[in-house]
Amino acid sequence: MREHLHSCAHPRTYYIRTFGCQMNAHDSEVIAGLLEELGYKRALTPETADLVLLNTCCVRANAENRLYGHLGNLKPLKEENPDRIIGVCGCLVQQPGEEEKIREEFPHVDLVFGTHNLHRLPALLAQLEATKSRVFEIWQEGEREEDLPVRRESPFKAWVNIIYGCNNFCSYCIVPYVRGREQSRRPAKILEEVRALAADGVKEVTLLGQNVNSYGKDLPAGERIDFADLLRQVNEVDGLSRIRFQTSHPKDLSSKLIRQMAAGDKICEHLHLPVQAGSNRVLAAMNRQYTREHYLKLVEELRATVPGIAITTDIIVGFPGEEEEDFLQTLDLVEKAAFDSAYTFAYSPRKGTKAASLPNQVPQEIRMERLYRLIELVDTLAKKSNKRLEGEVVTVLVEGPSAKREDIYAGYTRTNKQVLFPRPDPEEDLTGREIPVLIEEGLSHTLYGKVMTGKEETAHS
Ligand code: 5AD
Ligand code: SF4
Repeated sequence: MREHLHSCAHPRTYYIRTFGCQMNAHDSEVIAGLLEELGYKRALTPETADLVLLNTCCVRANAENRLYGHLGNLKPLKEENPDRIIGVCGCLVQQPGEEEKIREEFPHVDLVFGTHNLHRLPALLAQLEATKSRVFEIWQEGEREEDLPVRRESPFKAWVNIIYGCNNFCSYCIVPYVRGREQSRRPAKILEEVRALAADGVKEVTLLGQNVNSYGKDLPAGERIDFADLLRQVNEVDGLSRIRFQTSHPKDLSSKLIRQMAAGDKICEHLHLPVQAGSNRVLAAMNRQYTREHYLKLVEELRATVPGIAITTDIIVGFPGEEEEDFLQTLDLVEKAAFDSAYTFAYSPRKGTKAASLPNQVPQEIRMERLYRLIELVDTLAKKSNKRLEGEVVTVLVEGPSAKREDIYAGYTRTNKQVLFPRPDPEEDLTGREIPVLIEEGLSHTLYGKVMTGKEETAHS
């Protein structure tokens, strides 16, 4: 049992603001779990919280700049209530120099901890309380503890870590420096967690890792299984209906895994497979360890083996040394792969990575110009793939009312496309249910439809 900090009548409250990827979002769920075990309650705004925590990202410069902006904005909150604790954690603080920067330039920050020691939060809060002085504790490495509490954002969707860290060192990427080396969780622990989630009503799990395809390589011989084996075992858990995973690296995506995607009925027909660039010269400079030809062969194999699969990707434009010709190769690959959607980024130099010190950095205007041209193509392809769904009935897991309107529901297809549709019955809440929806219109980012009822089905047949 963890020690309780307080036994006062008013429970303390916390507010966590999360930046970056799903890995960070899930870490925030663990941090919230730890805090709730200490008796903290969630606050809806930073203004009403006793502890305000920023869980940071540093994958691109704008994530970092925004963070420092937010941190500055928290100063008045500390002035208004000096007992309020302001904390910073996550990837950014793992970068060399950031700890000193926060220490010197942001004296209103009381607590800083890194990605390897988030389980230390209760002890660090106790230390802060006891010493009344700022607490900074950042580990350079460490094994993630098992069985930490989690406070899930959704009752029916859950993230499950399967592997921490990354060994790939793509030349542009800061992640291996801030998240450390690959560490696979024991399969028995993962399955135990998935079974408990399913028993708790979770319908969809997303298995998380910087490179899930490396899963298992570092496990002790007696327990060694690969990612395809793990997926097969997760697929056997009763009660679940959807299994997703991210992120996959093209160099490690095996035919065995592709066949397992087709074989597992719960494994969703969607793969996020970051390509990053379409020119072999740039791919080599990025240290991606595959060619455009290999990538396009994987796409072909995926489409042939997993009917109806949606393939999405990440692309960086303006990597150092990228010429117009290389960029045209990226556009060509995007067109050939016919992605369902893509996250597109202008290259952002990260201190300490190999690419940041390459001589021929691409001017910002050219990076932006290429980015806009790429986005235009990606949107056109996304619209095309969504248009093809018009007139089809898809299964949607309902998330709840859309952000803007109570009478419109939002949900996702198994292929991870967002669908909006009118709520059929104001009395009946469909949140968390899987229902058939007839797609009436497909645009670049969203599908629009209506719920199928038995009656409509006869009318259409
Ligand atoms: N600049 C631009 N984009 C980057 N990404 C990672 N590092 C950088 C960088 N330095 C992108 C990659 C990765 C995604 C999570 O972020 O496309 O897949
Ligand atoms: Fe970064 Fe490459 Fe590792 Fe992904 S695989 S986290 S891009 S180093």
